[in-house]
Parts: sequence; C-alpha cells; structure tokens
Amino acid sequence: MCGIVGYVGAQPAAPLLLEGLGRLEHRGYDSAGVAAVSGSGLRVHKSAGRVRDLTGTLPKRFAGKVGIGHTRWATHGPASDVNAHPHTDATGRVAVVHNGIIDNAAALRRRLSDDGVDLVSDTDTEVFAHLVGRSAADTLEARVVEALEAVEGTYGLAVVHADFPDRIVVARNGSPLLVGVGEKEMFVASDLAALVRHTTTVAHLDDGELATLTATGFTTFRSDLTRTATEAHEVDIDPAAYSLGLDGEDGAPRMYVEMLEQPAATERVLRGRLDEKFGTAHLGGLNLDARETRAVRRVKILGCGSAYYVGQMGASLIEELARIPADAEAASEFRYRNPVIEPDTLYVAVSQSGETIDTLLAVEEIRRKGGRVVGLVNVVGSAIARACDGGIYLHAGPEIAVASTKALTTMYVGFALLALQLGRVRDLSIADGRRLVAGLRELPAQIEEILKGEDHLAEVAAGLAEAESLFFIGRVRGFPVAREGAQKFKEISYRHAEAYQTSELKHGPLALISPEVPTVALVPDDELTDRNVAALHEIAARGGPLVVVTHPGVDLGDLTARRIDVPRSERELDPILLTIPLQVLAFHAARVLGHDVDKPRNLAKSVTVE
Ligand code: F6R
Repeated sequence: MCGIVGYVGAQPAAPLLLEGLGRLEHRGYDSAGVAAVSGSGLRVHKSAGRVRDLTGTLPKRFAGKVGIGHTRWATHGPASDVNAHPHTDATGRVAVVHNGIIDNAAALRRRLSDDGVDLVSDTDTEVFAHLVGRSAADTLEARVVEALEAVEGTYGLAVVHADFPDRIVVARNGSPLLVGVGEKEMFVASDLAALVRHTTTVAHLDDGELATLTATGFTTFRSDLTRTATEAHEVDIDPAAYSLGLDGEDGAPRMYVEMLEQPAATERVLRGRLDEKFGTAHLGGLNLDARETRAVRRVKILGCGSAYYVGQMGASLIEELARIPADAEAASEFRYRNPVIEPDTLYVAVSQSGETIDTLLAVEEIRRKGGRVVGLVNVVGSAIARACDGGIYLHAGPEIAVASTKALTTMYVGFALLALQLGRVRDLSIADGRRLVAGLRELPAQIEEILKGEDHLAEVAAGLAEAESLFFIGRVRGFPVAREGAQKFKEISYRHAEAYQTSELKHGPLALISPEVPTVALVPDDELTDRNVAALHEIAARGGPLVVVTHPGVDLGDLTARRIDVPRSERELDPILLTIPLQVLAFHAARVLGHDVDKPRNLAKSVTVE
C-alpha cells in the first residue's frame, strides 16, 4: 500500500526520493509524487501511474536538498494526478505525504470549506496540509502538532515547509515510519526496503511519536513537544537481499524467484532451532519458560489472508502434536466481536510484513486486555514484532511479490517448531519429537524436488487456466491447503477459485460440477484417502475434470485425473508439501493468461489500512 520516503542532506533530494519510491513499488500503488524545498520555495511533481513515468517527466530544475515522496494506493478518491501525494496547502509552501486514514476528514473538509479554503483533491491528506499551513505557531514542529490535534485516525506522515527549509517533520500513529541515519544526511521511510541502499542504522518511531530530521541528525518527541529517547540501531539485514527490483536478476518475476528460494528459506527458519537429542525445538525468543509453556491451555492464532490459512494449518499442528486446543481466526474480524481474552491462552500473531493493520490491532486488543501474544513475523523490527511479548522471526528474507510464497512456508515451519516445543513439555514422546525433527530436516530437499517438477505443473496449469471457475478441495489437514491454493489462484490468475471441504461437496456445491469446472483435490495418503477418492468419483461421474495432488503409491483406481505426486513426509508435515505445487499451478496459470504476477490488480503487498 502507500509508501513514504524522505531525504535531508547535501545531495539533490528528488533523484534519491524517486529511487526510494522505486523500491517501494512492490507494495502496490497507483500514483506517486515528490516534493522538495529550497531557499526558493517548494516544488511538487506528481502523477497517476508508475514511478518510472514520474522520473521521466521530472523537470530539469527541481531544486532542493530536503524532500518527501510517496506512492499512493487509492482510498479517498480515484487514482489521478490531483489525488497523488504530496498535497499542499493554499499558499503552496507546505507539502505533506501521508499513509493511513484520517477518519474525520469529511468534517474537517467541511470546516475548511466553510472558512473559504479551496480543496482541490478528494483526499483526506489534503486537509492536513491546510491545517499545517493555517497554523501560526513558531516552529514547524508546533504547527504539525497543532494540526494533529484536529485529526482523528491513523497516520504515518511527513511534512516539509518552505519557511523551514532545513527540516522534515514526521509523525506516526498506526502506520510505520523509520528514520535512517546516514553520514550528514537523514532519511525517513515507511519500509526498510527504501532505506537499505543508504543506511542500515535505523530508528523505529512509536505510535504517538514525532521526529524532526535535519542534515545533522534527528530528534524524537511527543505531541507535548517533550523529547523521547528513541535511538537508532544497526539492523541485522543483508542489503544485497533488497538489491533486486521487482524482477529477479535474469528478469524472472519476483514471485518465481521467491518460490525457488523456499528450500533455502526453510533451512534458515530451522537453523539453530532443532534439538535432535531431545526431539524438540528451542525458541528462546518466545520468552516463555517451561512452566509458562506448560500452563498454556489453549492457542489462538490470528492472521489475515494467506497468513490466516497457514495459521489454520498451524492450529492443526499444535492440536496434533501438543494436544492443546488450537484454532485460527481472521485477525480482521477478531476485535469486532469483543473477544474473551483468557490468561491461559497463548495468542499467536502471524504476519510476513509485520505491518498488516488488522493483525496489529488484534495484537493491541489482546494486550490491552492482559493476554500474552507471540509473533511469527518475517520483517525484523516491524510493528507487529514490536507489539508482541515475544516471538519467532521467520528469516524468509525480503518478500517482494504480492502473492506470498516463501514467507508462508516459513510460517508453517515456525508453527511446527512451536508445536514441537509446546508438545515436548507435555505428552509428545521423545520418539515422536525426534521423528518430527527428522521430518523437518528433510523439508528443504523435498520442496526442491517438487519445484523440479515445474514442467509437469506448468502443463497442468495451462489446462486449469482455461476454466472460468474451479474448486480446490481437501479435508481436515488438507482444507487450509485448499483455501491457500484457491487464494493464490484467484489472486494472480483472476479466475474464480473456491475452496471447499471435500466432505461438504455433497451438501451443495456438487451442483456446480460440470466439464467446464475443474477441481484440484488434495488427497494425501492418510486415514481419509479412501473417502477422498470416493468423493472424486462423484465429481468424475458428473464430468468434472480432476487434478489430484497426492502421494506416490496412492491408488486412484480408474479415475481419469491429472496427477501430481509430492514426496511422502511425516504425516503432520504433509500440508506444506501439498501447498508448494499449488503455488506453481497458480503462477503458471497466471503467466499463461498473460498477467503480471508480481503486481496483481487491486492488491497491495502490505495492507496497512482497515
Ligand atoms: C496472499 C497474501 C496475503 C497476505 C495477507 C497478510 O498471497 O500475500 O493474503 O498473506 O495480506 O499479510 P501479512 O502476512 O504481511 O500480514
């Protein structure tokens, strides 16, 4: 979604801002813009469309060594030049970029209009520029604070003002902002990806915090203008991992590159965490000692979209291995049903970006009511990671493609580690623990093996791409896999894909089965295989084409089906191996249909507004 960058230093700001915006492209956006201040005033350049178009049309003389930039994902008003950020006040001396939503924008717009202010855009952000512009306080900091007092909602925002041309003032409430410290230059961004080329010394602002950036440093403060102690620290990331743009080195789509990275990402999430001797996992970051771990009576997992579906897979793992009741719930719904927060429930927030607003707000709701939350998060130092009581970093590496692949795989492995640790302080035997540890060690090679079958999967995908509508079905452990398979398929192929429990087909959806509606069925070799195969016969009898993801040796009898075999694993770990071919199917179906898999329409990488 929307992205922010800012620069103050000795270099011309605009090229640096445009370069930073290019690194935020993967978040999803529909327009972009930059503003810079210098002794001669404020300049703004913005338009609907791509950052590269904006770069191509940047006026030659775009002076200013202090500036802000933005990629916009439309919330208030359509994608248009005028709605693109930065927004300016009536005098054209103030410019603002903003992520988040100003809830009382309509009332503020009315008030400003009544006062004779001419609002030129449809956005909520423009009102903020006018509020700053109308303040007569002595400093830019005090003007921003005064404007914030009128505003309700969420924001990460950055302000420049031609009357204070040496600084950027930024403020955060619910939308991430990071200050990057360079050599006599300072940066601000909503995402680490925009900073890492210049610095890995970073300060994360907290909600309710503001900061002033000048070429020589930054100071942080609260809205009463008292200083806070937020400091910059070195972040432990490999800047090279962010060096790829949207395409891989050889021009391959990022989603493809990231799918292929899954064996390596799986090794990273396991590294140093498995204990063969005791058949368990060590997750020190959870901040739970053995006594606290034993006291957990229930596990509740919260995530959105694909993270929610992996959460459902994780809940099964925890119930099976630790025998603790566990379930997953969409974080976006959780806080609206006034949930009962239990002291002996372990809440788990799962998120790649660590920014998803619904998951973050669910974490805050739980903590406000005294619950304990641990995070399974990929992005180090992200808002969700910092809001939790402890957690596991996923070490998937930067995930740029909108359709999540490698992060989901590491989430699954993270849940397996958590289930092992919870299980081994309870009734999971050492033999079963060791069996699972051995199974987890095998996963990277098994994922590799599935990915090697790409040619066959591409061929199957080409057939599926022809259908306007399709089913993904599975049972028990296989059902969240079906949900994730359908999600990935619809997300990038734009085909209607519906996930269903195989056992429920007869209760309604069988009516939709026809030769035009294929079904992708998950049929692992387990206690339900025979029943699953029987359901497939019912589909075949109605002319429904079948793709069956299964294990070698599973007898499908005389069914006519395209078959995809995945390696046998420990039964509890089947879901992740069943998921991998579904990613590849979705990828190739989208390619056959000519879609840009890395930038699916209407979607953003990190959903930072409700
Ligand atoms: C689907 C996808 C989304 C995310 C969801 C949560 O491929 O990527 O459904 O899983 O938006 O995002 P995170 O994990 O960043 O909280």
